[in-house]
Amino acid sequence: MSLGALESTAVAEPGAVTVIIPTFNEAGNVRELLRRLTDAVPARLPCEVLFVDDSTDNTPAVIASAALDCPFPVNVLHREEPVGGLGGAVVEGLRAAGSDWIVVMDADLQHPPALVPDLVAAGEREGADLVVASRYIEGGSRAGLAGGYRIAVSRSATWLTKALFPRRLRGISDPMSGFFAIRRSAVAAAAGSAAGSSAGSAAGSSEAASEGAEVLRPLGYKILLELAVRCRPERPAEVPFVFGDRFAGESKSTAKEGLRFLRHLVELRTAAPAARMVAFGLIGLTGFVPNLLVLYGLTAAGAHYLPAEVVANQFGVAWNFLLIEGLLFRGRRAHRHWADRVGRFALLANADLLLRIPLIALLVTYAGMGVLPATVCGLLATFVLRFVGTEALVYLP
Ligand code: GDD
Ligand code: MN
Repeated sequence: MSLGALESTAVAEPGAVTVIIPTFNEAGNVRELLRRLTDAVPARLPCEVLFVDDSTDNTPAVIASAALDCPFPVNVLHREEPVGGLGGAVVEGLRAAGSDWIVVMDADLQHPPALVPDLVAAGEREGADLVVASRYIEGGSRAGLAGGYRIAVSRSATWLTKALFPRRLRGISDPMSGFFAIRRSAVAAAAGSAAGSSAGSAAGSSEAASEGAEVLRPLGYKILLELAVRCRPERPAEVPFVFGDRFAGESKSTAKEGLRFLRHLVELRTAAPAARMVAFGLIGLTGFVPNLLVLYGLTAAGAHYLPAEVVANQFGVAWNFLLIEGLLFRGRRAHRHWADRVGRFALLANADLLLRIPLIALLVTYAGMGVLPATVCGLLATFVLRFVGTEALVYLP
């Protein structure tokens, strides 16, 4: 039992498992959890348990006392300055875990401990790198997902996620699950694929695994999604499970987690430059709405279309800036002070305007186009230029 900073833990036997359990104020659950893990796991599998704890209550003390009755090593990595929420906690655990298999599960007993050996066994049997405990295959259910609202949210999130990553999530019916087993070597492979190569010879070593964990930047709750997309595990398998009721306490998830989840999706989807261009485009398209609305309002109120264009453009620019900052370049804002970014963005937008307004005037005056269609053409024409400029001049170091 060790508290505080922790270098690396390992159960050396082949096929052993490190169970990573993130905890945030779960004092009422951890004793029962360790008891059920003791009943279920060591008889079938060499194991250790690693809690990654961000609690402000006495969870670490309860773990320390309950661990005395456990026949396997129990470690607590307590984070004084937690970063990344639940996902960040699991990544810290991945960095420290040393067994061949890693199982991630919640502390509140919504994930049945009895299933831990089954997940690993399924992985060994099917040669899978990842085994997901799924609520959505025959034999599974989401009994513990209280209320029609949460079920609807969960269902649409799953649908959206599968639609965005059809290839990477093939064979995974429940990418939102927080209960799964993954081979440490597959986590290590993330480092290799991030460097543009396949996992090198170091894959499988614990250095490689912690290197792999460096590439992981989960935002909030969906650590499985992060691993499935970034580590590209081979032949994912699934085992059904019943998502039960919480044993004690309440869910730590808030409405804010929903927003974090959407940002996480955008971040994962736009990791490649080409995909980022498309996202640029989509955000730019949404900028038409405030732009055209203000233009319509001003011209309807009798303003001349040219000054109206200038004013309307500011609304489109501000809208785009906020979305781009919040969604697309969240991880790249640190290179410059926000005032510098606003300045550069505004400069680009004005350069863009300098190009666009004469173009619109040409189209209106000589091609006889209406103000609105001419504006759409002008916006499209200067679009690519603006986004290339934004990427290079605002967000690159
Ligand atoms: N270390 C740490 N830090 N642990 C956290 C944090 C945090 O910021 N937030 C939550 N946890 C821990 C909780 O203590 C619990 O052990 C586990 O993460 C899950 O938290 P819950 O609050 O119980 O989540 P949930 O039941 O709403 O969501 C679960 O089910 C979802 C599927 O509906 C999670 O497993 C989700 O990942 C899953 O998508
Ligand atoms: Mn829960």
